[in-house]
Amino acid sequence: MIRTFEKSDLSSCIEVHRASFKEAPWFEQWNYEDSMARLVDIQNTPRFYGLVYCNKDQIIGALFGHVEQMNGFQIFFIKEMFVKAGDKNKGVGGKLIRALERHLCECKIEHVQLFTSKKHGIDRFYLKQGYAIDNDFVLLEKRINENNN
Ligand SMILES: CC(C)(COP(=O)(O)OP(=O)(O)OC[C@H]1O[C@@H](n2cnc3c(N)ncnc32)[C@H](O)[C@@H]1OP(=O)(O)O)[C@@H](O)C(=O)NCCC(=O)NCCS
Repeated sequence: MIRTFEKSDLSSCIEVHRASFKEAPWFEQWNYEDSMARLVDIQNTPRFYGLVYCNKDQIIGALFGHVEQMNGFQIFFIKEMFVKAGDKNKGVGGKLIRALERHLCECKIEHVQLFTSKKHGIDRFYLKQGYAIDNDFVLLEKRINENNN
């Protein structure tokens, strides 16, 4: 069952988030505090919307993001999405995306964007959901420290 995220889902989502990113291809060790801070920051973003996927009352996947106003239209930006270790590749992620898209259609929001890792091949998951790489845009990054400023 997929339903809207509620504040009381936070601790379950932290556990799923940490376990999900601990596995291949990320192998990231998120401590509890960092995971909580990331998810709470996302949830505190204006126009936040989140979905959780439950299996017998247990959360096994979640999708979080927010709506942004653009010039004459709105975009939903997917900020985080994760499925529990052991439940990946069973269609949970795809169902979360489709549930999000149904909700956005009802809200007349026609654009969805996200950043993901090409290096880790996650773009393949989104390409399978009908998303396309936008070559008009590029993600730029600069590491700031006292030596280059
Ligand atoms: C990415 C993720 C959300 C996908 O959810 P899922 O429930 O595993 O995906 P689904 O079962 O709905 O879709 C599976 C399809 O996507 C592809 N896919 C899933 N995870 C993939 C990955 N990490 N890399 C490449 N392709 C992937 C599978 O090959 C599969 O394709 P197929 O149906 O042709 O075999 C999930 O694997 C996950 O939590 N990963 C770790 C966290 C993460 O990377 N989040 C996204 C950050 S932007």
